[in-house]
Amino acid sequence: MFQNDLMKGQRILVTGGGTGLGKAMTERYMSLGADCVIWGRRSGVLEETAAELMAKTGGVCEAMAVDIRDPMAIEAAVEAIWDKAPLTGLVNNAAGNFVSRTEDLSPNAFNAIASIVMHGTFNVTNAVGKRWLEGGLKGNILSIVTTWVWTGSAYVVPSAMSKAGVAAMTQSLAVEWGNRGIRLNAIAPGPFPTKGAWDRLMPGTGEGRDYIDTVPMKRVGEYGELANLATFLMAPGADYVTGQIIAIDGGQMLTGGGTFSMLEQLTDDQWQMMRAQVKSANEASRKERG
Ligand code: HXC
Repeated sequence: MFQNDLMKGQRILVTGGGTGLGKAMTERYMSLGADCVIWGRRSGVLEETAAELMAKTGGVCEAMAVDIRDPMAIEAAVEAIWDKAPLTGLVNNAAGNFVSRTEDLSPNAFNAIASIVMHGTFNVTNAVGKRWLEGGLKGNILSIVTTWVWTGSAYVVPSAMSKAGVAAMTQSLAVEWGNRGIRLNAIAPGPFPTKGAWDRLMPGTGEGRDYIDTVPMKRVGEYGELANLATFLMAPGADYVTGQIIAIDGGQMLTGGGTFSMLEQLTDDQWQMMRAQVKSANEASRKERG
């Protein structure tokens, strides 16, 4: 889908890059020539991923154990990155979430999610963005949100609220920083089962494969498909795309949007019957009108 050296010369930080979607995006960027830095909380996992991706792609990947709930740790780590070389891109991928009735959440439970998704994402974005502004450098930010930023989502309210905040940040900073060459976009994935997410969102359902009935395309997303969009948005040719939030969900979000989505269950015979009934209703009203 992309030229081999599309991302050459780029240096991209991926938060939560050790596993799941973050790892998949990092691998794609590296295989297209970018150097990457990955952050996460578990240094063992990060080191393993970095080694695996370097062996696989021949690219450069640096692992740094950074908890984005800690603003001081973020500042120190971004400074250390800049000491070597400025970033050209940032992917805000790190997140936390669990399914719960909202009335069962304590203030601490809300903070457990918001401190990562909303506060953490803001603090990383600002630490990187201000350095681009100070240095007169262009930059590119991609945030992973969810389709809940448009619809809300029951039982994951702290995540839905925090991701909506990240979407607002994306749109706001696209304007505020746009005149200095900094782009911000977001991807809103639907169901892309990862262990981190599914253990906490669909406990007991394995990889959530039974979830596909809610998706018009009748399958979950593949990591490579998300990596394609994440590459397009971070690539030089997309320089005029900013402030956008793009869903990649097999159409799932839209199934709740119309009145008739459940009609996909109808058989051909049932459609014929419906058609006959509509026709006879039309004829009856024509007769009434004379
Ligand atoms: C109610 C709960 C709870 C639950 C925890 N808490 N689980 N409350 N229901 N199921 C409460 C606890 O009682 C505690 O409050 C507070 O939350 C913090 O709990 P801890 O166990 O200390 O949590 P912590 O160690 O901070 O870990 C939480 C976490 C963790 C950071 C979010 O789950 C994590 O590491 N997640 C990272 C991976 C992840 O979640 N990925 C999914 C991203 S998916 P009290 O008051 O008792 O102290 C995503 C969108 C997916 O973002 C979109 C799919 C379509």
